[in-house]
Amino acid sequence: MAEIKAIVYESNTGFTKKYAELLSEELEKLSPDKKKIPAIPVTDNSMIFGEREPVIFLGWICAGKINGIRMARLKYNPVIIAGVGMTLPSELYAYRLAQQNNIDVPFFYLQGGIHREKLKGFYKLMFNLGVRPLLRKAEKGRSQLSEGKKRLVDLIKNGGEFVDSKNLDDIVAMYKKISEVLKDE
Ligand SMILES: Cc1cc2nc3c(=O)[nH]c(=O)nc-3n(C[C@H](O)[C@H](O)[C@H](O)COP(=O)(O)O)c2cc1C
Repeated sequence: MAEIKAIVYESNTGFTKKYAELLSEELEKLSPDKKKIPAIPVTDNSMIFGEREPVIFLGWICAGKINGIRMARLKYNPVIIAGVGMTLPSELYAYRLAQQNNIDVPFFYLQGGIHREKLKGFYKLMFNLGVRPLLRKAEKGRSQLSEGKKRLVDLIKNGGEFVDSKNLDDIVAMYKKISEVLKDE
């Protein structure tokens, strides 16, 4: 089987794109001949690939669904998948996402952030409606919220960013393992 050819992503406000580009830089550092694995949007058709090449796919999370995953599966063979959301990272959340998105390859959850001013149209409306119950609950009695929920409320209200190359360590480690296997196939 061929080696991993690209990091394919779907991003709405830019956090997933940033992670994809950071991952491309991290993987370039690993390569003995400094070969670049490019980060490309899932909608990009400019790169010539053979059919269903192995890729790493990163998509932003919208109401529990990983956006772009359908197209990524149609065009490529995602061997590692990551979802980028605003939720605080936990094993349980990663597990639920993997279940909801029928993921049967190594899966990772990355915390991106919130850029409310960059939300437009349908997604803006959907986001505002989606977070309303939590914000109402917080107004009624913040002290009743768990610590995690309090942090989420602050993030929703004030925005924030958690993109950090350190968050990619587990994906880089998995890439190394999978590359070894693909080399031998
Ligand atoms: C309509 C909408 C629904 C969202 N649903 C979720 C969700 O279910 N879980 C989550 O963790 N984040 C959710 N988010 C937050 C985004 O996934 C988060 O802002 C992410 O970092 C966006 O990445 P991007 O900048 O690449 O678009 C939602 C955002 C919007 C606009």
